[in-house]
Amino acid sequence: MSQKNLIVAFGGVSPEHEVSVLTAIQAISALEESSYNCIPLYVTKSGRWLTGGKLLDLSNYKEINQLENDAVSCAFVKDETGRTLLKEQENSGFFSKPKSFPVYAVLCAFHGSEGENGSFQGVCEMMNIPYTGSGVLGSSLGMDKVKAKLVAAANGIPVTKAVNFYESDWEQEQEDIITVAEDFDYPLIVKPASLGSSIGVAIANDREELVNAVETAFRYDAHLLIEEAVNPLMEINCSVIGTPEDCKPSVCEKPLGKTETLSFEDKYQSGGGGDKGMASADRIIPADISDELTRKIQSLATKTFSTLDASGLARLDFLVNANSKEVYFNEINTIPGSFSFYLWEKSDLRFDKLLTELIEIGLKKHRENNGRVRSYETNLLSEKAIKGIKGLKGSKN
Ligand SMILES: Nc1ncnc2c1ncn2[C@@H]1O[C@H](COP(=O)(O)OP(=O)(O)O)[C@@H](O)[C@H]1O
Ligand SMILES: [Mg+2]
Repeated sequence: MSQKNLIVAFGGVSPEHEVSVLTAIQAISALEESSYNCIPLYVTKSGRWLTGGKLLDLSNYKEINQLENDAVSCAFVKDETGRTLLKEQENSGFFSKPKSFPVYAVLCAFHGSEGENGSFQGVCEMMNIPYTGSGVLGSSLGMDKVKAKLVAAANGIPVTKAVNFYESDWEQEQEDIITVAEDFDYPLIVKPASLGSSIGVAIANDREELVNAVETAFRYDAHLLIEEAVNPLMEINCSVIGTPEDCKPSVCEKPLGKTETLSFEDKYQSGGGGDKGMASADRIIPADISDELTRKIQSLATKTFSTLDASGLARLDFLVNANSKEVYFNEINTIPGSFSFYLWEKSDLRFDKLLTELIEIGLKKHRENNGRVRSYETNLLSEKAIKGIKGLKGSKN
């Protein structure tokens, strides 16, 4: 393949749509001098797949309707040789015919929902194309706070005490759920199992606030968690790059929230936005904690990354009791905002090099998967074998 077409996939039907646009445009500009030819694959808020040069310019997103009109529908298709192409599905201009681009690799820059929960990763698997980040299992585990905690705890990684329940459980066993939760003592934290950006997360200081918080959170998700609060709280995050077998941690960061729990506004809207995304939030890098605590968190970060079958790059968020220095794994972000480049820059890895490494990991994983036996010759569909199968028309049984 002469040109290395890197499909940068972003946007999506997700509350974190805009943050994903920022992450993607940051990555595309970091890769400007690289050997990759970046081709945007923008998923609109209504789920349309679009491509076209205008999607590369952040200022065009101010007039989103105009941008969607100017862009061209696209899809992954296979050509007759089995190669996967990103194919335009309409004419991009009066005289130009729809173009198609052989896919070298996909840079997944979605945040939240189907772009980060394994669904899009599954599309890439079906199309047999290399893609960055965690696979289907790692991505879906990362999106489910309940399952991630269960798997982490089963592998000796400390997590906070929690009770999880569905809406029907709440209707039928509200008293029992409250009894279990109150056993952890107030304040309690209520959160949806599979959302991000602090949406639906609330702190409850008494029973009335707890019931209100649960009822509000059910507007966002059918599966919730009530957790013991880490108090006083210090949050420490650490990024990890690599594969489950071989990965390394970045320096740690200490995000500084203005409110008791970090809100969506704290995370993305402080400093007035701009194209800095996550990097503009208030944070201390490297975190001003002891070397011993840094090492402990870095080692828990790589262990949790492997345990949850993550791959490529992730950011792992920990809750630390500021007094006792006890550390709890809170969540893994399998496609962190801005690819956590600001942590890697402080770990002597420039953004373009970070992205190149991330793409190389995806390519290697793809080569390895394709090097293994993926189909088997059987005679199950031979005429003789079919005759012996029950429940088929024309078979004797
Ligand atoms: N058990 C807890 N104790 C204290 N604060 C918590 C706890 N869980 C979450 N928080 C606070 O709420 C914020 C959002 O919760 P988190 O689990 O990270 O969800 P999200 O995926 O929305 O980021 C955290 O950054 C932290 O400030
Ligand atoms: Mg969080």
